[in-house]
Amino acid sequence: MWDKKTLQELIKEKFTDYKFIVVSNRQPYSFEYAGRKIKCVKTIGGLVTAIDPVMQTAGGVWVAYSSGDADMSIVDENNTVKVPPEKNLYLEKLVFLSKEEENGYYYGYANQALWPLCHIAYRQPVFNNAFWEHYKTANKKFAESVVELFDEQKPFIWLQDYHLTLCAKYIKEKNPNAIISLFWHIPWPNPEVFRICPQKLEILEGLLSNDLLGFHIKYHCHNFLSTCESELEAKVDWEESAVTYKGHKTQVKDFPISVDFEQMSEMASAEDVTKKVEDLPSEIDPPYEILALSIDRVDYTKGIVEKIRAVDRFLEKYPQYQKKFIFFQKGALSRLHIKTYKNLIDEIQSVAEEVNWKYRSGNWYPIVLLNSKIDYTTHLALYRACDLCLVGSLHDGMNLVAKEFISANVDLKGMLLLSKFTGAARELKEAVLINPYDIDSVADAIKLAIEMPSDEKKERIKKMRENIQENNIYKWAGKFINNLVKI
Ligand code: F6P
Repeated sequence: MWDKKTLQELIKEKFTDYKFIVVSNRQPYSFEYAGRKIKCVKTIGGLVTAIDPVMQTAGGVWVAYSSGDADMSIVDENNTVKVPPEKNLYLEKLVFLSKEEENGYYYGYANQALWPLCHIAYRQPVFNNAFWEHYKTANKKFAESVVELFDEQKPFIWLQDYHLTLCAKYIKEKNPNAIISLFWHIPWPNPEVFRICPQKLEILEGLLSNDLLGFHIKYHCHNFLSTCESELEAKVDWEESAVTYKGHKTQVKDFPISVDFEQMSEMASAEDVTKKVEDLPSEIDPPYEILALSIDRVDYTKGIVEKIRAVDRFLEKYPQYQKKFIFFQKGALSRLHIKTYKNLIDEIQSVAEEVNWKYRSGNWYPIVLLNSKIDYTTHLALYRACDLCLVGSLHDGMNLVAKEFISANVDLKGMLLLSKFTGAARELKEAVLINPYDIDSVADAIKLAIEMPSDEKKERIKKMRENIQENNIYKWAGKFINNLVKI
């Protein structure tokens, strides 16, 4: 069984001579002004949830883009700060971008071109040359920030995600011997989809400068290898799962990402969480007997509108649940400068209002939307208190909410409804699997989960907990590192 200690030992054994450097767009801890004071905020998202425990165990430097308004006044002359506050377990090194660069690189190329290109959620990617130029500049800045860290220690660099496709190439131009890997946190599309990207060759060349490329599931590795085969004059070795391009070999492998199961279970069992579970019914506005929960970043790939439509259908088809059932959608707002995201918020709001108007009776209404931040105790209490957790992504690399929910489900109470189109569905087979596009069948699945005998529920949840306990985040990081060592 992998845990913090096994990972620490592995790193000590294999990496004594190395400097461990993680690079991502999103910073793990941002510093923000609260009046005249500065507070430290842990950022949201699957990437930080997964990598922060690894960094807290491994130590090293995490290079990331600065998004906190008080970051500049916190960092030292090398743009670094020790995090997490008080624990000081690793260094966060910040890259500062201009507003134009941020707009072109993050809101533009990363999230209006690559994000919709890689997710099958039927939003057309926007390819714009100005976005691309800023994307290249930003990747160069990340690479420079990494190169500044080089000293007598050999660097071991672990890039994260679709924001940094060109970074390995730029780093290797400065130091050809650096060992560089990249983990891709979102799906990789099939070659037919990828071929529309005008910058496809530069992106593939950038990615193939890495020594190891990781994806969540075999299917995404397969798509990547097929893309290389059809787009490049590269040697694709299917047996070995590797691509050789211009004399350099890149290993391509699946590493299903996970969560810190033990820590989540332990925190969810804490006294303050148990107390909060008891208090929740009086704190949530409409009265209810059955609580369905979703926690998502507000993104069109998460299928939030489709879930509300399914709840509507459920209440229509099974009216016996009216005045008893509520759907609590907690949303974290992000990428707000992109019009599609702004429009999505309006759409969610308006569909929720429509459904609430249709069913409202006295002080009961079925849809509760909450976009403001909640503390972690409440977050965990919601996982423990709900009767079902609805993960309805239209397409998702992994979806760590599903794994978090099962890890926090210490009472073996709530059932997981999980979209078939998430990476997590390949592992959590005991969940009630749904097709989020098929509103009617999701309505039936909600009923099935509510009415499932508690013994069956317990059995299924237990199996999923065992799976996540074994395949935890430390095993994920350990396997990734072991593979790189072999290379
Ligand atoms: O899962 C993909 C991803 O971009 C992660 O890298 C990140 O943790 C999450 O989505 C949140 O996105 P953003 O950093 O754009 O808010």
